[in-house]
Amino acid sequence: MTCKILVLPGDGIGPDITAEAIKILKACQKQGLDIEIEEALVGGAAYDAEGDPLPRETLLKAQAADAILLGAVGGPQWDKLEDIAKRPERGLLGLRKELGLFGNLRPAFLYPQLAEASSLKAEVVSGLDIMIVRELTGGIYFGQPRGIEERDGQRVGFNTYVYSEAEIERIGRVAFEMARKRNRKLCSVDKANVLEVTMLWREVMERLAPEYPDVELSHMYVDNAAMQLVRAPKQFDVIVTGNMFGDILSDAAAMLTGSIGMLPSASLNEKGQGMFEPCHGSAPDIAGQNIANPLATILSVAMMLRYSLDEPELAGRIERAVSQVLDSDLRTADIAYADTRKVSTSEMGDAVLEAFRKG
Ligand code: NAI
Ligand code: MG
Repeated sequence: MTCKILVLPGDGIGPDITAEAIKILKACQKQGLDIEIEEALVGGAAYDAEGDPLPRETLLKAQAADAILLGAVGGPQWDKLEDIAKRPERGLLGLRKELGLFGNLRPAFLYPQLAEASSLKAEVVSGLDIMIVRELTGGIYFGQPRGIEERDGQRVGFNTYVYSEAEIERIGRVAFEMARKRNRKLCSVDKANVLEVTMLWREVMERLAPEYPDVELSHMYVDNAAMQLVRAPKQFDVIVTGNMFGDILSDAAAMLTGSIGMLPSASLNEKGQGMFEPCHGSAPDIAGQNIANPLATILSVAMMLRYSLDEPELAGRIERAVSQVLDSDLRTADIAYADTRKVSTSEMGDAVLEAFRKG
């Protein structure tokens, strides 16, 4: 059956980097992958064209797709929009919510060829390979009630941190399964010494553990986890945590690898549908200049093939192609250093394409 892939380039460097990822998708098609590629508007681009960061047509196409590849959304020209519902980020949040993309997978993987890009000492990070599983549709980012209101003559802001047992169990299972496919070590991160909602989180993780006797479960408070990530990050294999803690820890973990332009991500729902996107934003400072690093987006295609289209071999082939290109001296500006050859976005995409074809 033909798989429908929806590409949402979005804003800033979004169109530059998704163009390179589409080249790889088309190469997969030539290898017999049965896909159909469509494009639609999201974010600021959609707001400018239709007055809505998530037009109905885009949402319908997203719901009908087997997998979505997103570039990035946002930029300074939309930051002044007073109606928050019209901001580009709302397009992304809307897609996550509407599609129920609760399981966010964020690998932090250090390519040995880029070891000097990390801000940490080589011996602390060499061989780093962590997978952070972040709950994406619940927790404090969505909890009700929320708002800013007047109480006793002054304004107060408030949000609600809430998780149901079912939500915790659902993300817990994704994490245990992930640990099973990797090194069978799962660390659940919470703040169970202070927050009741995470006391429940810990309890549910403990309850699941006997179903995965081959996985070693441990718990860590989030403040300590932040410390351990910079002190000795290689102690982690899979980390599972809620929406806000995951947001912060996954950005910290990403920076251990030194290159935001290298990291892909996946967000999955219960039907196995997924949205795949680079971890970085729309980089307005370098948009349209053909200098952005397309590798995070190309690696997001590999995650798509692995997690939504059940094509682990093609996924591996893309990852190997990226690694081979890094073995050569080709580098986009963000990962370039003294002895390397600086290439453009499209030259980098073409180099991966060529390595993929040969692979
Ligand atoms: P950013 O990730 O866009 O950029 C941070 C820095 O990294 C910039 O100097 C940028 O040039 C560089 N950079 C990012 N991706 C790169 C790539 N592929 N190759 C080379 N260099 C790269 O984050 P920033 O500046 O905080 O946000 C810019 C805009 O992106 C904002 O409007 C923000 O809301 C939006 N954003 C969107 C996200 C998404 O769509 N998922 C995620 C994060 C931010
Ligand atoms: Mg973030």
